[in-house]
Amino acid sequence: MDPLDPAVPGLLSAGRLEVTGRIVNASNATLFCDIELDGVRAKCVYKPIRGERPLWDFPDGTLADREYASYLLAEAFAPDGCVMVPPTLLREGPFGPGMVQLWIDTDEDGGLVDVLAPSDVPDGWLTVLRARDSLGEPAVLVHADHPELQRMAVLDVVLNNADRKAGHVLAGVDGRVYGVDHGICLHEEDKLRTVLWGWVGQKLPTELRATVRAVRRELDNGLRTRLADHLTRRELRALSERVDGLLATPRFPEPSGYGPAIPWPAF
Ligand SMILES: Nc1ncnc2c1ncn2[C@@H]1O[C@H](COP(=O)(O)OP(=O)(O)OP(=O)(O)O)[C@@H](O)[C@H]1O
Ligand SMILES: [Mg+2]
Repeated sequence: MDPLDPAVPGLLSAGRLEVTGRIVNASNATLFCDIELDGVRAKCVYKPIRGERPLWDFPDGTLADREYASYLLAEAFAPDGCVMVPPTLLREGPFGPGMVQLWIDTDEDGGLVDVLAPSDVPDGWLTVLRARDSLGEPAVLVHADHPELQRMAVLDVVLNNADRKAGHVLAGVDGRVYGVDHGICLHEEDKLRTVLWGWVGQKLPTELRATVRAVRRELDNGLRTRLADHLTRRELRALSERVDGLLATPRFPEPSGYGPAIPWPAF
């Protein structure tokens, strides 16, 4: 279903959820569902809070709230209403309260992040890491030089995203780029881990600087209050500081030097 369809919010919040599968390999209980309301159907992801695996560095039972808070911030990032995170909300489900997110149909050939032999890198793609594969052959972690990915990279700085791996960057069949899996975002300590380092040190393009200013305005105009139901005061303060940091130094930041800069596995 088109994320911009006006039926989406009502369907996600009040639709009947039917679990149809579980995403294998997922570290938490990530359930694949059909959702239906008044004959309108869509696919979605449901992550019950109860299924969240405890993590050493994030407080228990907070991942769904972080996913929702990330969606609210992504909304502030979308001047045209085209939000980079699929519509997401918190609600009751068959396994208790959790987060529900619209499923995005992806273009299998439209991948924007990859690990390739150096000779296979498409023209214009940016190299993040040079390594050797299991056979000792050179391999590179690369991503497209795409304005929507740039926007996602800045969103990740604001979210302090600790897990922007390739599988969390989706190329929609609608030609748009979506980010998913924002459970480990918005920690108060610096944890940015991403594959989108291709623009390190470069100036933010004018339109992205305007976006960051718009996010600051939204925070001051009620967004901070909405986020306060989902984040701690310290997390909110750190969020504000990250936005102010980008306004003061409008560049794609460098890795902080604390902890790994790239999520592992990167896919
Ligand atoms: N809204 C969505 N639309 C389409 N695909 C999705 C959506 N959400 C998740 N996926 C796909 O399902 C995979 C697993 O989901 P997600 O990463 O959110 O779960 P997880 O429990 O954190 O898993 P993992 O531990 O593998 O990261 C994603 O990598 C992505 O390919
Ligand atoms: Mg994931």
